[in-house]
Amino acid sequence: MNAEDQAVKQESASPGKMPFHKYKPFKPIPLSDRTWPDKVITSAPRWCSVDLRDGNQALVEPMTPNEKQKMYDLLVELGFKEIEVGFPAASQTDFDFVRKIIEEDLVPDDVTIQVLCQAREALIARTCEAVSGARNVIFHLYNSTSTLQRKVVFNMSREEVIKLATDAVTIVKTLVKELEAAGTNVILEYSPESYTATEMDFAVEICAAVMEVWQPTLDRKVILNLPSTVEMATPNVYADQLEWFVRHLPNRECATISLHTHNDRGTGIAASELGLMAGADRIEGTLFGNGERTGNCDLITMAMNMFSQGIDPKLYLSDMRKIVAVSEECTKIPIHVRQPYAGELVFTAFSGSHQDAIRKGMAFAESGGDDTWEVPYLPIDPTDVGGSYRETVRVNSQSGKAGVAFILENYFGVSLPRSVLLEFSPIVQQLTESIGGELKPDQIWDAFVKEYIEVEGPYQLIDYRVRSVADNKEACDAKIKVAENEIDIHGEGSGPIDAFVEGLVNTLNEPLRVVDYQEYSLNEGSEAQAICILSISDDKQNKYYGVGISQNTTTAAFKSIIAAINRKWQ
Ligand code: KIV
Ligand code: ZN
Repeated sequence: MNAEDQAVKQESASPGKMPFHKYKPFKPIPLSDRTWPDKVITSAPRWCSVDLRDGNQALVEPMTPNEKQKMYDLLVELGFKEIEVGFPAASQTDFDFVRKIIEEDLVPDDVTIQVLCQAREALIARTCEAVSGARNVIFHLYNSTSTLQRKVVFNMSREEVIKLATDAVTIVKTLVKELEAAGTNVILEYSPESYTATEMDFAVEICAAVMEVWQPTLDRKVILNLPSTVEMATPNVYADQLEWFVRHLPNRECATISLHTHNDRGTGIAASELGLMAGADRIEGTLFGNGERTGNCDLITMAMNMFSQGIDPKLYLSDMRKIVAVSEECTKIPIHVRQPYAGELVFTAFSGSHQDAIRKGMAFAESGGDDTWEVPYLPIDPTDVGGSYRETVRVNSQSGKAGVAFILENYFGVSLPRSVLLEFSPIVQQLTESIGGELKPDQIWDAFVKEYIEVEGPYQLIDYRVRSVADNKEACDAKIKVAENEIDIHGEGSGPIDAFVEGLVNTLNEPLRVVDYQEYSLNEGSEAQAICILSISDDKQNKYYGVGISQNTTTAAFKSIIAAINRKWQ
């Protein structure tokens, strides 16, 4: 190490600095005429779930047979046509599970089961035993090809690694003859494990050698699965590696190019997406990205990303709650609240300005809007994945009047006049600040009832009677409790409200006028309740709102007047 390097090393190891000097950058792929950046994804790839293998083998507590069955049933229900059901030569539980689904005829005709196997004769034989009697099988053979592993793990030359792979393919070819004779349709999948850490020319060389032995045709393609076993570079580098690979692979048309990304840098999905643009046909991954270390490519997010671009994802993901529930039960790993398309908070806005935009965007959409989904802050319609509009808005101290209005409208059918909203939302704001968290819809409703409906104060409506009198007028006789006394009032007017107000003004000496009156039905049917929202103005032109709810519209109105006067006296 020269003096300059020594100085950098010392600097990177000094306190306050990360030891970045330990690491070296990934070498770019020499591909200046790359074409993938101009490509657009227009259709879904062939999906293959590896939940029952890669996902399962990375769990603290691997799935029990029952859990495997549950996960398998879900994968079939979601529309996966290729499912890696296990590593039967490595695990008795996996072996038994593969036997069970074959013997109990649990594999639909259009589903192909996939089994993983290392390039070793005994394991290949055991794997053939596991899948005997199946209709369609993908025999997934792998060996590591990475430069580092060849050096430090296997101590093998390139030639020796190629021989290991081709010998294994020869054995598979021989042993599957018996399966094929018995009616099993076998597809070979070959994975140069740690493909992204393998010299590109060597990856092509070993895959070409495998094809040479297997002799795939256009009708019987081999699957070449190119894993980023450990994600080591930005996703564009993976795309470059793939474009380089497909350009150089002899007989590329006889191969299905499959991707299997991991997520060590947090870009496993992006790598698979760019990889598709670079010419891949098939994607392996897991639900919510479960898998070794940081996980595999999350197939739910990737499929939903396509869906949100107007592409048929060829997976049925509308019951996201069920997918989350089964996944959590089988993996014992909770789904994060911010998990794309599935987490509890991913369609929720707390911020006032976001809530306002969502409310207006939804109103525009409901009024006919445009043909396609376009609502601010909501990349997709939550109802497409079993969510509801109601969940989009939740209220905490960051929220404003739009959130309060949304909750009252959507949970309780109450649409407040703007001036009430301006008055009530600071009350909600104060409450959220005092509890330091979210206010649930029922808590907002309770606060509304306390503030405007069941208002503490001197007056209480006990009883009333309204009748028609001369000159097209109405008379109102009411009993009002004032402090501890019951007082009878009488008034006449053009309608019940007028008459009631006249009684209050004359008998109780309460100078008031009704302004801003509105009344509407809260729900439908014989039990329908009416809500009356009004404000009274006193002799000093101060306005006080009150709200009344009753099955009877007149009662609702009288209650709202009493509530408003009580608010005046608070
Ligand atoms: O990540 C990986 O390389 C694998 C292989 C077995 C395909 O899981
Ligand atoms: Zn993997």
